Amino acid sequence: MGLPDLKTIGIMFLLVILSLSCNCDARMQKHLRFIGYSRSSSSSSSSHHRHHHNHHNHHHSSSRRKRTKKKSNKNQSNTPPSPSTSPSPSPSSPPPPIPTPTTPTRTKKKGTIFNVLDFGAKGGDGGSDDTKAFEAAWTAACKVESSTMLVPSDNTFFVGPISFSGPYCQSNIVFQLDGTIIAPTSARLWGAGMLKWVEFTKLKDITIRGRGTIDGRGSVWWSSEDPFDEFSNDLTSSKMPHIKPTALRFYGSYNVVVTGIMIRNSPQCHLKFDNCVGVQVYNTTISSPKESANTDGIHLQNSKDVSIHHSRVGCGDDCVSIQTGCSDVEIHHVRCGPGHGISIGGLGKDKTKACVSNITVHNVQLQGTMTGVRIKTWQGGLGSVKNVRFSNIQVDEVQMPIVIDQFYCDKKKCTNQSAAVALSGISYENIKGTFTVKPVHLACSDSYPCSDISFSQIQLKPIKLRYHLYDVFCWHTYGLLLSQIIPPIDCLQTGKPARNKIQSNPDSCL
Ligand SMILES: *[C@@H]1O[C@H](CO)[C@@H](O)[C@H](O)[C@H]1NC(C)=O
Ligand SMILES: *[C@@H]1O[C@H](CO)[C@@H](O)[C@H](O)[C@H]1NC(C)=O
Ligand SMILES: *[C@@H]1O[C@H](CO)[C@@H](O)[C@H](O)[C@H]1NC(C)=O
Ligand SMILES: *[C@@H]1O[C@H](CO)[C@@H](O)[C@H](O)[C@H]1NC(C)=O
Repeated sequence: MGLPDLKTIGIMFLLVILSLSCNCDARMQKHLRFIGYSRSSSSSSSSHHRHHHNHHNHHHSSSRRKRTKKKSNKNQSNTPPSPSTSPSPSPSSPPPPIPTPTTPTRTKKKGTIFNVLDFGAKGGDGGSDDTKAFEAAWTAACKVESSTMLVPSDNTFFVGPISFSGPYCQSNIVFQLDGTIIAPTSARLWGAGMLKWVEFTKLKDITIRGRGTIDGRGSVWWSSEDPFDEFSNDLTSSKMPHIKPTALRFYGSYNVVVTGIMIRNSPQCHLKFDNCVGVQVYNTTISSPKESANTDGIHLQNSKDVSIHHSRVGCGDDCVSIQTGCSDVEIHHVRCGPGHGISIGGLGKDKTKACVSNITVHNVQLQGTMTGVRIKTWQGGLGSVKNVRFSNIQVDEVQMPIVIDQFYCDKKKCTNQSAAVALSGISYENIKGTFTVKPVHLACSDSYPCSDISFSQIQLKPIKLRYHLYDVFCWHTYGLLLSQIIPPIDCLQTGKPARNKIQSNPDSCL
């Protein structure tokens, strides 16, 4: 190979500058593609001008300017003057259809960093309310493609219920969380109660990353949980509203990434995705105590193409909960405990239709949880759960490692109903470890028996703790035992349920 030419050296230099000035290496490729980016193409739209703002450049970092300069050098003939030095809209843009504002417009370039400290956040450990500053920083970041909203390290920000929302935000925004965000603990700030604390909605390509923490400080909510504890009603905790917020919720978004961060002590669910397509959660930690009631770790609903991996979840309820409308979900290399295990459901509550398919859970470890892998449905529901695979699951002192419960009921007793969410195509492979109550519990609907349920390489050993030990249980469960099942699952009915056993409903999920 010959000596690299000047152009190659230029590109390499640019690469180095980019990697020094920007924390977002995953997005490097994107930035490089925009080397020849011309502002004239994007600044011509009227909305662009309407959305101008007056924060100017006080938070422009010097590294940011450096990058802009390098861009100019790359293609001088095509690059308009840098916006940070231009007092008016880019001369290369055609006249906008709406009269230009009288004040000079300065438009942020791709990749700008918006530090909450520059928007008035104090990071005063709860002594001051940073909600407005976070909102202002988001308003600015929202308008700039590939921008970063920075929550800097070594600061603890007090933030009330907040929504970082589109749909008119640019794509590829990074929420760089290196510091800590704490939630209000006074009932006054929550009003009648809210469903979420920190929310991201209607965004495209949104990433939350960093080594920071989202701390819901939820103990004030948990302690009011027990309705039978008369004394708890006299404590301040009882003043918390009945509706408890999810700590971090994503709604209606495409390509969501959550990585690096810790979410802890949520009043209720820690991390929730609803109506999202393309979700990746990895290298993330979720932590709240075993006693924290209803604190699901990760909750998925109406979401597709979800991958959760290399993460750690400990909480008071389900480690991961997969609800209706989910398909193509993969969970792997996740460690759970304490908590209730990995659950599909409860589905079909109040005679609703539930559709869940293509769920894969593999190489997960559950320690001290209530169940291992569980599917739970209410009687009376409709729809189906299909194509679910649990493999390479390690359980340690789990009360009930394998559970199907089609009689799920949160009251003392629920009336029997014939309709049910139909379960089929569920495989359990290589599930090993110890249980403390019952190894396998398969309770399927009388009218819709579970079918095509297969087991191979199951090795579950009892550990006698303070509980009574129970045998394997099956009810209307059909399928196959493939190899090496300890303890034996003799109650599994081989083959398929008789034709007349299955209701003739067409699959309402197709
Ligand atoms: C540089 O500008 C010229 C002229 O506008 C254009 O044809 C060319 O594609 C640009 N190069 C890059 C790398 O963007
Ligand atoms: C995981 O996240 C932490 C920050 O919480 C970071 O320091 C570490 O490098 C990340 N590890 C991987 C493999 O990405
Ligand atoms: C589930 O996977 C099958 C086979 O890969 C595919 O045909 C089907 O469309 C998937 N279902 C959903 C709801 O994505
Ligand atoms: C409900 O159904 C279950 C399972 O078939 C049965 O064991 C139970 O006795 C029924 N309960 C009532 C109240 O009919």
